[in-house]
Amino acid sequence: MNSSPLVKSILLLLCLVESQGKAFIRLCYFPNWSNTRQSEYARFDIDDIDPTLCTHLVYAFAAVDVDSHRIVPMSPATENPSATTGKRGRYEQFNDLKRSYPHLKTLLSIGGEYAGSDNFVAVTRNDRILQRFSETTVDLLRKRGFDGLDVDWEYPNATTKANFSKLLKALRTAFEADRSGRERLILTAALPAGSHHIDTGYDMGALTRYLDLANLMTYDYHGSWNAVTGFDSPLFSRQSDPNFDAKLSTAWTVEHYMSKGLQADKIVVGVTAAGTRFKLNSTDLTGVGAPVIKSDTPRQSDIWQLPDRYAYPEICRLLQSTHTKYVFDEEQQVPYIVLDDEWVGYEDVKSLTGKVDWMMKKGVAGAMFWALDMDDFTGRVCDKGKFPLLKALSHSVGKIENTHLTKNVNTNIRYLTKYTGAASPLGGGAWGTLLTVVVAVLVLRFFR
Ligand SMILES: *[C@@H]1O[C@H](CO)[C@@H](O)[C@H](O)[C@H]1NC(C)=O
Ligand SMILES: *[C@@H]1O[C@H](CO)[C@@H](O)[C@H](O)[C@H]1NC(C)=O
Ligand SMILES: *[C@@H]1O[C@H](CO)[C@@H](O)[C@H](O)[C@H]1NC(C)=O
Ligand SMILES: *[C@@H]1O[C@H](CO)[C@@H](O)[C@H](O)[C@H]1NC(C)=O
Repeated sequence: MNSSPLVKSILLLLCLVESQGKAFIRLCYFPNWSNTRQSEYARFDIDDIDPTLCTHLVYAFAAVDVDSHRIVPMSPATENPSATTGKRGRYEQFNDLKRSYPHLKTLLSIGGEYAGSDNFVAVTRNDRILQRFSETTVDLLRKRGFDGLDVDWEYPNATTKANFSKLLKALRTAFEADRSGRERLILTAALPAGSHHIDTGYDMGALTRYLDLANLMTYDYHGSWNAVTGFDSPLFSRQSDPNFDAKLSTAWTVEHYMSKGLQADKIVVGVTAAGTRFKLNSTDLTGVGAPVIKSDTPRQSDIWQLPDRYAYPEICRLLQSTHTKYVFDEEQQVPYIVLDDEWVGYEDVKSLTGKVDWMMKKGVAGAMFWALDMDDFTGRVCDKGKFPLLKALSHSVGKIENTHLTKNVNTNIRYLTKYTGAASPLGGGAWGTLLTVVVAVLVLRFFR
């Protein structure tokens, strides 16, 4: 039973490849409208994407046409290839990123916040329409080079719940029936954070059966509709204050889905680079839960033009003022800043690192990032390099995975040593094992 060191090295490498395959997902949304902003700090296009920071890229959004019952581009002139010059369209340019970054998976997202439900109701009206919709979807995804579809129906309710499940089933069936010889198309859905939508619109059995990944939109917990200050995406609920709903946090939402039967290994937890902005009623009360003055019309941020929100680089600019007070809220594990009557609750490197740590302990599949264009992608505003938030996400994933990996490698070596009756491939005893682990970790880093 004495196998050669070579065999054992190969086995060890296979174990490493196996651990690599289960890498923590980083699913990043690319909004199609971000290339029209005035400011160069905010104008984001396909060329600005750093594909090393994501495992999945999602093009948001395409529309569902209620007459032809097909997915259609929002802007056919730019997203389809040019009929006259043959120039590649934006969908293909997006998917061309995979040539240089073969680890990437790309998805097309349909629906979104402003698309409503009518389009989805139209394609689920009867089985024939639904089947044709699913088949033409496969054709489109294959033709333009996507690896899958993200369904962002906001939101199915008690009436449409069953048909949402039927939609997922039909798509999954068509993806499995696809005979292109390529890897099966991936099916994901963007799902709500709030208890009402979760409890009325979704059959957890269907989500588990048909989805590869469930992208939870765990943000927008508080905003301009509130009378007091609160965080956009707190990790934990505010239990210390009975005026706060205990269901308003990432942890609550994730645990709620899990308690209803959605498996952790399907769950991708959302984080956002946008912070919520409030106007304080009084500069004497500036904590979490302080009274605010609501405005009738949304206030647009200067550079990103976000309604009642700021993109992360705009928050960096506020932090550059010496009058700005920064507070990290220990209870909810997210920061806020106060500048005069301005209050902003947001996500920073510290909170994101803690969130990722929590996600890994929960054993979820990964994190979702909304959205690429709202990080400091130029690196020229926050002075922390390009994509500081997205990098913080990757770094904390890397750090935690390496710790887990070292443990796995150790177990694998013990296993190998036990069943081959020999020492580890690089020498006997504890030192040999240690050396093997070091080499294994180096090998892994090299392949990353
Ligand atoms: C993106 O989608 C919007 C609709 O939301 C559309 O008006 C716009 O033309 C699209 N932009 C590009 C660059 O395709
Ligand atoms: C559910 O959504 C559909 C489609 O938008 C709508 O027609 C219906 O009135 C809604 N039902 C409930 C109970 O809200
Ligand atoms: C759901 O789909 C069925 C056909 O499968 C259709 O008869 C029904 O009207 C749809 N329900 C809604 C609420 O759209
Ligand atoms: C807002 O501040 C004013 C004093 O500037 C105070 O009279 C009022 O009660 C405050 N409103 C709330 C909701 O706290």
